[in-house]
Amino acid sequence: MTSTTTKNRRVDLLIFGLSVFLVFCLIFESFLRLPILIAWLGRWHPLILHFPIVLLLIAAFLGLTGKNVPRALLTVATVTALVTAISGFFLGKEAVEKGNLLFWHQWLGAGTALVAVVWYWLDGEGFGNTVYTKALQVLLVVLVGFTGHFGGMITHGENFLALPTEKSMDGPIPDNPLIYQHVVARILKNNCVSCHNPNKQKGELLMTDLDGLLKGGESGSTLVPGNPEKSEIIKRLYLPLADEEHMPPEGEKPLSTSEIQILERWVALGASDTVRLNHLGANEPLASLVKEMMEPDPMEKWAKLPKVADSTIQRLSSDYLTIGRIAGSTDALHINMYKPPTYDPRLILDLKAISKNIVQMDLSGLPIGEQEMELVGSCENLEWLEVDRTPINDTQIEGLKNLSNLHTLKVYGTDIGDPSAAVFKNLTKLKSLYLWDTNISQSALDNLRNAAPALLIDNGIDAAIQPFFVDRDSIPISGNQDRAIE
Ligand code: HEC
Repeated sequence: MTSTTTKNRRVDLLIFGLSVFLVFCLIFESFLRLPILIAWLGRWHPLILHFPIVLLLIAAFLGLTGKNVPRALLTVATVTALVTAISGFFLGKEAVEKGNLLFWHQWLGAGTALVAVVWYWLDGEGFGNTVYTKALQVLLVVLVGFTGHFGGMITHGENFLALPTEKSMDGPIPDNPLIYQHVVARILKNNCVSCHNPNKQKGELLMTDLDGLLKGGESGSTLVPGNPEKSEIIKRLYLPLADEEHMPPEGEKPLSTSEIQILERWVALGASDTVRLNHLGANEPLASLVKEMMEPDPMEKWAKLPKVADSTIQRLSSDYLTIGRIAGSTDALHINMYKPPTYDPRLILDLKAISKNIVQMDLSGLPIGEQEMELVGSCENLEWLEVDRTPINDTQIEGLKNLSNLHTLKVYGTDIGDPSAAVFKNLTKLKSLYLWDTNISQSALDNLRNAAPALLIDNGIDAAIQPFFVDRDSIPISGNQDRAIE
């Protein structure tokens, strides 16, 4: 009998001591500096917090349903609640700044532990089955719920439990996007918001909406519409990676060049949140940057191609015709053919079996004709085609008109003329066209340039300046040796 009372006395003392310590921590929080080992104890918080949650809820459930709450259960629940609250306090001390969530979580957690202590004490004094303890049990259930909810928001993000709503941040960018909402905010969300949100507002800068950006942070000139050079948010992206002020900080993935350029141009154009892609001029760099970002990831696009077996690739390859997968295990293929001593069109025609998989094809300098070009025209997923220095003509170029994925086309050194220019005009994805040394007239070329301003036409050296280079060339042109010696 005596031994149980001393044991109970010890437990009482332990609970009393822990409670006093917890209250002391909360009151003198700002004066405390934790030794590293103590701070390390805080790391156990996420593990031990499960014990008091389960134990307190079981105890409260028993009490509320009129059952007897075992003293041992209540004791263990109370002790673990105190230890959890204290470890959570240690962990919280490690956070650089406390957002609202952490503040509430901490006080609710401490409250839960202290309410458990009061219940433990009332129970020990013989008030175990009164209306007071019932009220405490209800309060405990509520407190455990809210503490856990705030804790969950801290670790999983504020909207962890919210129903999924508008998903403007994931998935493909819509057609004609709003530059701020669909492009700029997405870049910021993926790279910056983790440290610049209401709960973790580094540099006092909120990046979750445009108001926060315009209000700015510590520097006062975070975002100066129309002036990227003065805007801290742009300047910091251009700092050397090792610079302390570079954003995002060292260890985080830096932005890509085009992401930086998008932010910079958006600021330069006035940091508007109403401007859409179609409001931008065709020559505005922001328009092409955004369009590029809207392109689906090639791997994703290629994932839909039909499967090709390695054995098929081997069977169709030869010493003069190489077939390879563009990357790793994709079914997107590139074809490269060199001129064999005796040319046989069948090598190319046999590619029919894998025509849907051919994404890049190089047939430069081969004596290809109508049949081969027909096959090329049927490779509907072709993105890159080289048929320069071949005997092709306008009729065969006509057969390429359905290659809606073609973005690069090399046709220089061929006999094609103006009708081909009209075909190129309708290849909407075409970005680069190499066509010097053809029969296309200057007017057809100008026409094409006007119709497709975003298309990059490589026409060799401009005819207007070509004589200039030739005149000054010190390399003797054959039959004109004296001039160079002069
Ligand atoms: C890992 C956390 C983290 C990430 C991610 C992060 N920042 Fe910061 N940021 C900080 C900290 C810490 C500060 C305050 C210290 C300082 O000024 O360098 C800060 C300060 C800033 C400031 C200065 C505020 C002002 O105007 O006074 C700007 C601007 C900024 N960040 C922009 C960005 C941008 C843009 C991104 C995304 C590309 C980003 N940050 C991502 C941690 C982060």
